[in-house]
Amino acid sequence: MRYGHFDDEQREYVIDRPDTPLPWINYLGTDAYYGIVSNTAGGYSFYRDARLRRLTRYRYNNAPLDLGGRYVYVRDDATGDYWSPSWQPTPERELDDYECRHGLSYTRIGSARGGIRAETLYYAPLGETLEVWRVRVTNERETSAELSLFSSIEFCLWDAQDDATNYQRNFSTGQVEVADGVIYHKTEYRERRDHFAYFACSEPLSGFDTQREAFLGPYRGWDRPAAVENGAATNSIAHGWQPIGSHHVRLSLAPGATREVIFVLGYAENPKDDKFDPPGSQTLNKTRVRPLIERWLRSEQVQMGYEDLRAYWDDLLGGLNVRTPDGDTDRMVNVWNAYQNLVTFNMSRSTSFYESGIGRGMGFRDSNQDLLGFVHMVPERARERILDIAATQKADGGAYHQYQPLTKRGNNDIGDGFNDDPLWLILGVAAYLKETGDHTFLDEQVPFDNVPGSEVPLYEHLRRSLKYTLDRLGPHGLPLIGRADWNDCLNLNCFSDTPGEPFQTTENASGGVAESVFIAGLFVLAAKELAVIAGLRGQDGEEAVYRAAAEKMSGTISEHGWDGAWFRRAYDFHGNVIGSGENDEGQIFIEPQGMCVLGGVGLDDGLAARALDSVAERLATPHGIVLQQPAYSSYRIELGEISSYPPGYKENAGIFCHTNPWIMIAETMVGNGDRAFDYYKRLNPSAREEISETHRCEPYVYAQMIAGRDAPTHGEAKNSWLSGTAAWNYVAITQWILGIRPDFAGLRIDPVLPSGWEGFEAVRRFRGATYEISVRGSGRIDHLLVDGTRVDGDLIPPAAPGSVVRVEAILA
Ligand code: BGC
Repeated sequence: MRYGHFDDEQREYVIDRPDTPLPWINYLGTDAYYGIVSNTAGGYSFYRDARLRRLTRYRYNNAPLDLGGRYVYVRDDATGDYWSPSWQPTPERELDDYECRHGLSYTRIGSARGGIRAETLYYAPLGETLEVWRVRVTNERETSAELSLFSSIEFCLWDAQDDATNYQRNFSTGQVEVADGVIYHKTEYRERRDHFAYFACSEPLSGFDTQREAFLGPYRGWDRPAAVENGAATNSIAHGWQPIGSHHVRLSLAPGATREVIFVLGYAENPKDDKFDPPGSQTLNKTRVRPLIERWLRSEQVQMGYEDLRAYWDDLLGGLNVRTPDGDTDRMVNVWNAYQNLVTFNMSRSTSFYESGIGRGMGFRDSNQDLLGFVHMVPERARERILDIAATQKADGGAYHQYQPLTKRGNNDIGDGFNDDPLWLILGVAAYLKETGDHTFLDEQVPFDNVPGSEVPLYEHLRRSLKYTLDRLGPHGLPLIGRADWNDCLNLNCFSDTPGEPFQTTENASGGVAESVFIAGLFVLAAKELAVIAGLRGQDGEEAVYRAAAEKMSGTISEHGWDGAWFRRAYDFHGNVIGSGENDEGQIFIEPQGMCVLGGVGLDDGLAARALDSVAERLATPHGIVLQQPAYSSYRIELGEISSYPPGYKENAGIFCHTNPWIMIAETMVGNGDRAFDYYKRLNPSAREEISETHRCEPYVYAQMIAGRDAPTHGEAKNSWLSGTAAWNYVAITQWILGIRPDFAGLRIDPVLPSGWEGFEAVRRFRGATYEISVRGSGRIDHLLVDGTRVDGDLIPPAAPGSVVRVEAILA
């Protein structure tokens, strides 16, 4: 069952009923000002950091699940009837029709009731720290209409964590100011004097409200605000309690007439040595923001900003465009997967309907993986991100697991000890180098832990990443896992003094001898990449050292990491094997099957193919590949969090979608295009649109998790949007199945297609040139015709920037 459809032409997902199984959301903003918006206008906005600079308030895990947002109310002043065109927060008021169009960084929600149509376009203009709401109201009646329009937002007192907990203070700190129809939210301005928010309206006001209780009325909710019911704002000024912003505008519409009302919500920051607004002044000086507000309240400006936003996406998506025999593939590659990659890159794991914006900053391993799906669109931003990440690395090569985007400092709450983290930096940098060819990047001076004076070339950071692993090998010569590897929940250094009793401290969580076969595979992959990079820098000695280290680790994996038909997962604190036929549960895990093969382990001796057969036999389901089998039926202290989940959810045998593309890639490495593509289609959100009642999450983006076969809700997705799933699926389909793969020496065309395909077409931007690629035939690559000239093998030598190159890839 569907709740909407794709409008491929417009690159929009059109939701045609508001009661989607879960809030189906979108993101506003592309750079510093961001927001999330659901299909019923729920959500919130923030500047850079969803925890520390939250503009509007949002209550997670509410009932209904999604309540609070950018709501507009329409009131028929003749009858007193009122409703919200976004359905929420007035779901009792039936709409005659409803449509939400989620586009690329904008959302349009519209509906009609009683002959009045209202549609709101929400977006954040490029380069500004504000968002606009353009409301269009049309009178479709035969008679004229006297209407009222109310805007509404609830201000957050900036630090979202504090805002949600510290009421003894916060009920007294809220401050606003209203001048010339603009509502200014200036809590925190007294002591910091550096930032404030504004909420403005293009029309003369009939009134306004800034105190929530005055607007809603005592003991009332957003479903029936007293001011709306009465048709009159109260001009309240908030002193403490809950500052809000609401404008009241009256509209008189002739039959058939349309009126446009624009609202602008924005963030402003004053320079530290502000002459306009020196410390001590209690009134905001609005001279700096006023012209900006005026500009964005103008209709032509709003239209122009919208067109600029669309052009921005045209350009970004122009990085790769494909035409294949499969519509779901085209749609995801050309639009939605690429879009999700950008959003995930911007948000890391901080802000979605499942991530509160408070808990997590930017992840070290996460961000390095996110850029894999994004680097071809805007390499400069990947570059900048890599430098930020590397600057949080510690001198011993270790990594803070997360950092805060506002301060760019490593986050001490979570700390370090996830022993896979440093290796992902090598993969992130390698991806950047392959895409751009810009090896001077390696000479950028980057500090350790942001300590001034500790700067070394970026290349040195990569060396230390490898060394970090080599300095931490366990009893079998495999890398120590520390607190966890990629699988945050596999905590193998936990132990109990008294068997059966939970006992776990941070020291023993990272200090034990548990080892990870997954990190071993990742190490092999990273060491090989660094070897090539060293070679290209002319450091031949080092190249050989890294190759030898990779080879040695491969040997160790074959010796201690092979279980007879698949790769083992780990050894725990007590030296017991995990992910082996010897275990009663958790016999086979997906991660090492993917990562060891990606590292090239087992490709020559058949182990890789054997491991992948085991995945197909034991882990694959129609909804994707589960993380391990059999699921853990009870909690096990020696394994940690993984067994805290009920069977089939999350890391305990859920379909943890992030890992599936590793298997797709591995399948292409052993030449199995059918299996690779089959796995790809099982997860492809567009291909799952028909089962939206089961899948429940948005059909236009990947979710982190789909309930596994042991779960009562097998096939149900959760945690949509922010997941390494986005980048890795994009890499799997574009670089390995379609085979358009940037490499250090140029662009490779090496498709491993499903049988029955007779080729496909693609346009790829690469190092400033445009490649028009046409792949013909089936089987593996035989030769290329590059502008008509035959090239044996799969590598297109880099062309001059600005040129357009015709490539025919002949498969045989
Ligand atoms: C984290 C990832 C981690 C994955 C598996 C996600 O929630 O963001 O860093 O690899 O879970 O545990």
